[in-house]
Amino acid sequence: MDGTLREHWDEIYADVGPSQVSWYQPTATVSLQLIDGLELRGDEPVVDVGGGASTLVDALLARGHSDVTVLDLSQAALDAAGARLGRELDRRTHLVCQDVLTWTPPRRFGLWHDRAVFHFLVDPAAQAAYLKVLKAATDPGSHVVIGTFAADGPEYCSGLPVARYDADALGAALGTGFMIVDTAREEHITPRGAAQLFTWLSATRVS
Ligand SMILES: C[S@@+](CC[C@H](N)C(=O)[O-])C[C@H]1O[C@@H](n2cnc3c(N)ncnc32)[C@H](O)[C@@H]1O
Repeated sequence: MDGTLREHWDEIYADVGPSQVSWYQPTATVSLQLIDGLELRGDEPVVDVGGGASTLVDALLARGHSDVTVLDLSQAALDAAGARLGRELDRRTHLVCQDVLTWTPPRRFGLWHDRAVFHFLVDPAAQAAYLKVLKAATDPGSHVVIGTFAADGPEYCSGLPVARYDADALGAALGTGFMIVDTAREEHITPRGAAQLFTWLSATRVS
C-alpha cells in the first residue's frame, strides 16, 4: 500500500470531514439510477471500490441488498462509514481497508461500483492493474458502474491530477468483454457550491 497516498486521503477525511469533502453527496442518485437499470438481485455481492464514507451502501441496504463490501485506502473514511452504519456492519456490510490496485478479491461480485476512483489512475500501467483486479473480482454476467470526471470536467480532484473521460472513452478504457448498458452525464455540486461534470457508465461483463 502506498503510505503517502493513504495519508493524503486520511488527512482529507479527518481535516475536512466526510460530509464537507468536495465529492460528498447526500444521496448517490446517479449510481442508484444506473443500478436500477441492471438486473441485479439483492443477494448478489456488491463492492463499492473507493467507496470511502459514501452513503451508497446505506441506500443499497435500505433497498434490501444483503452483501455490500466497501473497499477504500482510507481507514478514516471507513471509520466514518462504520460509525454511521452501526450494527448493519456485522450483518450485511464489510469494510476493507486496501489499495484497489493490490487487492486480491476473495470472491466474485455481482456489481463493481466506482465513483471517482478510476479517474485518479493517469498512468496506463495503473489502469491496467485496476482492470486486472476488476476482472478478478467479477464473472461474465457481473455488472460494472463507473463514474469519472467528464472530458470537460475538472483536471484535478482533491489536489491530484485525473484522467477525464467522455462515455466512449470510458467504454474503451474498460476494454472488450463488456456490453455497455447505459451512460449518463451529471453535474455534481460540491458542498462549497462548485459544479463538477461527471461521466457515468454501466455495463455487463459478457466474457
Ligand atoms: C473522490 S473520493 C470518492 C469517494 C466515494 N466513491 C464517493 O463517491 O463518495 C475517492 C476515494 O477513493 C479512495 N481511493 C483513492 N485511491 C484509492 C485506491 N488506490 N484504492 C482504494 N481506494 C482509493 C479515497 O480514499 C477516497 O475515499
